[in-house]
Amino acid sequence: MNILSIETSCDETAIAVLEAHGDISEHRFAILANTLLSQADKHAEFGGVYPTLAKREHARNLTPLLEKTLKDAFLFNVREQDISETQREEIQALLHREPEMYEMFMRLMERIEKPDIDVIAVTEGPGLAPALWVGVNFAKALSLLWDIPIIPINHMEGHIVASLLSEEIRLGHVVFPALALLISGGHTELVLIKNWMDYELIGSTRDDAVGEAFDKVARMLDLGYPGGPAISKLSQEARARNLKSRYSLPRPMLQSDDCDFSFSGLKTAVLYTLNDIDVLNDDIKREFAQEFEDAVVEILIKKTKKALDQTEAKTLILGGGVSANTEIRRAFRELFKEQYPDHLLYIPEAKLSTDNAVMIAVAGFLRASASSEPAYREPIAQGNLKL
Ligand code: KG4
Ligand code: ZN
Repeated sequence: MNILSIETSCDETAIAVLEAHGDISEHRFAILANTLLSQADKHAEFGGVYPTLAKREHARNLTPLLEKTLKDAFLFNVREQDISETQREEIQALLHREPEMYEMFMRLMERIEKPDIDVIAVTEGPGLAPALWVGVNFAKALSLLWDIPIIPINHMEGHIVASLLSEEIRLGHVVFPALALLISGGHTELVLIKNWMDYELIGSTRDDAVGEAFDKVARMLDLGYPGGPAISKLSQEARARNLKSRYSLPRPMLQSDDCDFSFSGLKTAVLYTLNDIDVLNDDIKREFAQEFEDAVVEILIKKTKKALDQTEAKTLILGGGVSANTEIRRAFRELFKEQYPDHLLYIPEAKLSTDNAVMIAVAGFLRASASSEPAYREPIAQGNLKL
C-alpha cells in the first residue's frame, strides 16, 4: 500500500509517500519521499506562528512540494491529461478561497499521470484552522481527480506513532496499556493508550505548552523563533563547560497530586529574573537555558513517573517537537535504565519528533489496517480536535 500524506497543521508544509507492506503485527515500511518546507523564518518576526501567513504559505507551497515528493518517490510521470469540465468545476469550487493554489494545482495535474498511490492521509486537526483547511482541501482535490480515498488523521496520533517507525518495532506488538508523553508547541499531554485508537487523556497543561514555554523564553533571551533548538544548543554548551547556573527557577505544580502541568509561571519567573540583569551576555544566556531545561526535565519526569505508577503502563512513548531535545531524551533514557528496567521506552528519531508528514502516513497505515470500520471518510479541519 502506497500512502501519500499531507501535513499543514502549523508552520510546516510537509508531504510524504510511505510504502507499507503487511499488517499491524507484521509490517515493513519504506519512506519513498519525505519533503518539508518550513515557514519558521517567515514567522520569526512575529515571534510565533501567524495563522493567516501560515495559510498563505501552505497554499503556495503545496503544489510545488507535491511535485517534488512525487519525483523523489519516482512516481512522477509526465503525460497530458484530459480533465473534464465537471471535474474542473468541482475542484474550482473546492479551492475557491485559494485561486492561486487552484491555478498552480491544475497546471500540475494537466501534465502528470495519476501516480501509484492507494490512499491519501491528511491531518484534519488539531492545529491552526485556516492552515488545516488548506491541507484538507488540497487532499480533497487530489482525491477527486485521482479517485483515491482519504483517511483523516489526528496530528497527535501522528506524534504517537512517529517513534514506532524503526525496523525492529511493530505497531501490533505494543503492549497495552501504554502511556504517551506528547510535548509540542501546542500540547503537553499524558495520554493513556488502552489500545490503538482508544485513548484517554490523563494529564495536560493548564496554561502554556512546554514548546511554547521554550519559544517564549528563547524570545526573552533574544534567541529568535523557534526557540527550542536554540535553548537546547545553549544548554548543551553550558553542560559541556560545566557551567553552574547562578539562577534558580521554580518547578510549577511539581508536588500537585495529579498528572497536570503548568509552564506559564516558569516563563514569568525567567522574565522577572531577567529584569534584574543589566547586560545579558552569552554565559548568562547559557546558564538560563540550562536552568530552564533542568526545570522542564524535572517536571516532565516527575509527572510521567506519577502517570506510569497510576496506570501501571509498561511502555512509554515520547512524541512531539520537544522530544527532539537532547537533554530530555538523555534524561528519559537514564530514568528507564535506572528505575524502569522492565519497561519499554520509545523515542522518535530526532528529525521525526518535530512535525513531518511521515508520521501522518504511519497513522494512516494504522487506521487502514487496525480498524474494523472503514477508515475512509471526508476530512473536516478541526482546530481543537481531541485524540
Ligand atoms: O511538534 P512540533 O514540531 O509542532 C507542533 O505540533 O507544535 O513542535 C514544535 C515545538 C516548538 O515549540 C519548538 O520550539 C519545539 O517543538 N522544539 C524543541 C526542540 N526542537 C523543537 N524544544 C526543545 N528542544 C528542541 N531541540
Ligand atoms: Zn506537532
